[in-house]
Amino acid sequence: MAKPKKQEKQLFMTRLMTPDMSNFSGKVHGGMILKLLDEAAFSCASRYCKTYVVTASLDQVVFKNPITVGDLVTFKCNVNYVGRSSMEIGIRVEGERIREKKKYHAISCYFTMVSVDENGKTLPVPRLQLESDTEQKLFEAGKMRCAMRNEIQERNLQLHVGID
Ligand SMILES: CC(C)(COP(=O)(O)OP(=O)(O)OC[C@H]1O[C@@H](n2cnc3c(N)ncnc32)[C@H](O)[C@@H]1OP(=O)(O)O)[C@@H](O)C(=O)NCCC(=O)NCCS
Repeated sequence: MAKPKKQEKQLFMTRLMTPDMSNFSGKVHGGMILKLLDEAAFSCASRYCKTYVVTASLDQVVFKNPITVGDLVTFKCNVNYVGRSSMEIGIRVEGERIREKKKYHAISCYFTMVSVDENGKTLPVPRLQLESDTEQKLFEAGKMRCAMRNEIQERNLQLHVGID
């Protein structure tokens, strides 16, 4: 019997932070980082499910340390959890000050990406093959966050009742 094809669940993207990305203080713009995060999440999700994907949501974006012009920044993406058509992509961003030989944890966050066809209709994504205890733990955590997201969305709607 043919061996099942290994799933592409991880993606690493490295970028040099150039002066055009900075704000007045020489740190990299938060908006620029969000754009790169979205690009990395798109690439990871799309390569996993082999379709076009859209960003449904982004949460738990925690900026732990500022990123400076000249730093080398790596976006470490992983498909943590999949539903029917959605995928949770966890991203850990690590910065590197090359001359100082120093690495730091810059950001962590979770994207929900949804597989769609050319008309924007959702498509089912492949089941995630969990191959280690860590992958199993990531999956369970992603499943829990998915439920939390739905609950927050629901409760937020309640807060808006009666407000235009
Ligand atoms: C995301 C989108 C495809 C969902 O379409 P929909 O018709 O609401 O489809 P559904 O309600 O069946 O949801 C599809 C999946 O998306 C998930 N989803 C929908 N809205 C979500 C949200 N706000 N956060 C997280 N997940 C969400 C659902 O849980 C579902 O997951 P599942 O299939 O794994 O169970 C649609 O809302 C869309 O196209 N949004 C715009 C996306 C976009 O333009 N992004 C770029 C922003 S600039």
